[in-house]
Amino acid sequence: MEDAVPAPAAPADRFDWRRWRDRLLASPRFHRWAAATPGMRWMVRRQSRRLFDLVAGFTYSQILLSCVKLGLFEHLAQGPRDASALQDLTGLSERSLDILLRGAVSLDLLEWRSASEDAGKRLVGLGMLGAVVAASPAITALVEHHQAVYDDLKDPVELLRHPEQSTQLRRYWAYAEDGYPTSESKGTGSGAARGLAAERVADYSELMAASQPLVAEQVIAAFDFGRYRCLLDLGGGQGAFLSQVAARHPSLSLMLFDLPAVAERAKVRFAAEGLGARVVCHGGSFFDDPVPQGADLVSLVRVLYDHPDERVLAILRAARQALGDRGGDLILAEPMSGTPGAEAMGDAYFGFYLLAMGKGRARTAEELSLLVLAAGFDRVRPVKTRVPLQTGLLHAIAAPRESSR
Ligand SMILES: C[S@@+](CC[C@H](N)C(=O)[O-])C[C@H]1O[C@@H](n2cnc3c(N)ncnc32)[C@H](O)[C@@H]1O
Repeated sequence: MEDAVPAPAAPADRFDWRRWRDRLLASPRFHRWAAATPGMRWMVRRQSRRLFDLVAGFTYSQILLSCVKLGLFEHLAQGPRDASALQDLTGLSERSLDILLRGAVSLDLLEWRSASEDAGKRLVGLGMLGAVVAASPAITALVEHHQAVYDDLKDPVELLRHPEQSTQLRRYWAYAEDGYPTSESKGTGSGAARGLAAERVADYSELMAASQPLVAEQVIAAFDFGRYRCLLDLGGGQGAFLSQVAARHPSLSLMLFDLPAVAERAKVRFAAEGLGARVVCHGGSFFDDPVPQGADLVSLVRVLYDHPDERVLAILRAARQALGDRGGDLILAEPMSGTPGAEAMGDAYFGFYLLAMGKGRARTAEELSLLVLAAGFDRVRPVKTRVPLQTGLLHAIAAPRESSR
């Protein structure tokens, strides 16, 4: 059968090494030779391992999810236990528990701590990765949330063909399609999100608050908040980011802006933390309502990637407006596409997550910078974070306008 679109021909005088490589990799003779040749063997093993992990990744995720749901990490954080004690804890049969423990040990989630002929007496403790999960309510909350993600991605081709289909993530992130008609909310007009009821925002607000420390610690370590007078956190959720900044910078004034039902949750949370007098919470939508004025620093933390470009521009313009004629600074913190060493995080993971969720996408630092400049900021630069997988960071500056000089 003829190709519908002919492949572009390589210039006759240039050696097409990719074509040559593809042919080589498809050759069983080459594979046999490489596997038998010292010096090439590592490459064969590495490629086989990478391919196998792609196939098996879902199984690994399910082992992690099982350990979290059964409370294994929590339990083993108090010390190693033998398999019989874990059988009592989990209610699993001896065989099922054995399969789970072996799987979790092979993934570094758990670790055998003693050998015994009697499988029931073998001690098991936390592995290198399990110890990290056990200490992090943020990771635990994210792992549990992923049940919905796996469910939505169970037929990925169907999702790619019909991205507008109803998904669990779409229902979960109730604001994600504000202004766009969907199969669920036909004719949703702009402004629908600002009327979201308390129960529609509670789950995602809790998840964001639980996972916020992963982001806040990166941003606070990388950026000097001490130079500012007043910080406005746009789309600040129920205030977890501001709480952490408040603890480190006691003289900084703080404002939060989010949908009315979320801002209400933030108010309650700040009051419970004794920060009620220090943080002013504003409810509204950055697409439909004026944003509070008076800050010299605005933050957008994990907000832009939820939205398509035209809406991102609107949010960034709102951020610029918040800084008024006197100008000021903006920080953007979110996972970014093209992050060196974490390319699959932005393009593979968030690509599919955001497809199931709605209209957003992870952007490169360069793409975000162009949008920031288009929204009226004058300069923008990337700021290095310690763990870019957890968040990327951009710092933009809006110069004062003539009228305020
Ligand atoms: C992914 S969450 C991030 C929350 C918080 N910044 C964090 O990192 O934990 C996105 C936030 O944007 C808020 N949001 C979405 N649409 C909004 C709108 N139109 N106006 C104001 N806030 C909005 C959501 O309610 C939610 O709290």
